[in-house]
Amino acid sequence: LSVPVPYVDIESLIGDEKNCIWQRIRHIVQAEVPSLTRSAEYFFQPGVEGKRVRSSALLLVASALSDGEMGDPSKSALYLKPDLRPYSQYPEEVRRKQQRIAEITEMIHVATLLHDDVLDDAETRRGLNSVNKMFGNKTAILGGDFLLAKASVALAALRNTEVLILMATVIENLVTGEMMQSRSSQDERMSLDYYYRKTFLKTASLIANSCKSAALLGNHSDEVAQLASDYGYHLGMSFQLVDDVLDFVGSSSSLGKPTLSDLKSGIATAPVLFASQEEPQLVDLTLRKFKYEGDVDMASRLVAKTSGVKKTMEVAEMHASKAIKAVDSFPPARGKYAEVCRDALRHLANSVVTRRT
Ligand code: FPP
Ligand code: MG
Ligand code: MG
Repeated sequence: LSVPVPYVDIESLIGDEKNCIWQRIRHIVQAEVPSLTRSAEYFFQPGVEGKRVRSSALLLVASALSDGEMGDPSKSALYLKPDLRPYSQYPEEVRRKQQRIAEITEMIHVATLLHDDVLDDAETRRGLNSVNKMFGNKTAILGGDFLLAKASVALAALRNTEVLILMATVIENLVTGEMMQSRSSQDERMSLDYYYRKTFLKTASLIANSCKSAALLGNHSDEVAQLASDYGYHLGMSFQLVDDVLDFVGSSSSLGKPTLSDLKSGIATAPVLFASQEEPQLVDLTLRKFKYEGDVDMASRLVAKTSGVKKTMEVAEMHASKAIKAVDSFPPARGKYAEVCRDALRHLANSVVTRRT
């Protein structure tokens, strides 16, 4: 990024807290029927937690806004490293609610992955066989439904209507984004505006609204909650743009999922849309959804000849910079711990655009 970004070891800040959250999720997803439990807990097993970007963002946003007064360590934020414990300041019941939003967010996210792999007929995810591959489509669909149901119960239990509406709207957005991706007109398929809207719905909305929810549960003003949402929005847009680049330039072994999967599913993402401005042949290929023998290879070679990947990365970097600007606009930090968490948010935004996995 064009601005210097501090290095912060995010795991040492919130690694323990995330581990507690994952333990609780594993407990929550126990079902009455073993096959439901198996599919619902599959991606919450130790070692396949994924990058945990969503929960990191929301926990750090919440802490970045907390007041840094010294308090009774036993009453302050839970699960912090002892040397940082005196700094983070939410009453225990507030931090617990923010942790609940992290659990809900990750359960919704994994529910979409289970359904997505059915829709995409994917065989691998996070370096494992996908749930549909392991247990079949029906179990994967019902496992996803079960996770959504558990997330809904957890959400209702927070007894906060505004947060409930935000997170329920995220589910609506996810479904809408997925449908926009799979059912589009020819004009829509070539449109960057349509792509950005879809990207907001299928990826950025969850991160934006979970960050916003965490701020609201921290009793912050609507203005501050909006800045939290802005951070999540830009982080999410950046994350998905990089995901779409890695589908072209990444390796399936480091990604733990197949590459060129978007082309193979007939979907043109930003690298293709930018590339088609230089290689008009890509327009025909996109409109016919890369469906003829050799189309996927030809499209990938054409994209490599253009600045499609570079231009996509520039947009991703622009969003990462805007995420950092949102942090810069937070009200003055109320303590050392809040400042460290702001640097961690800046570092997280940068690591999204420099990642290879
Ligand atoms: C991954 O995208 C998929 C999503 C981010 C959203 C999927 C949404 C649904 C399946 C609809 C609704 C489901 C629920 C439970 C609300 P991708 O296929 O581009 O990425 P990948 O490479 O990780 O598979
Ligand atoms: Mg997929
Ligand atoms: Mg998909």
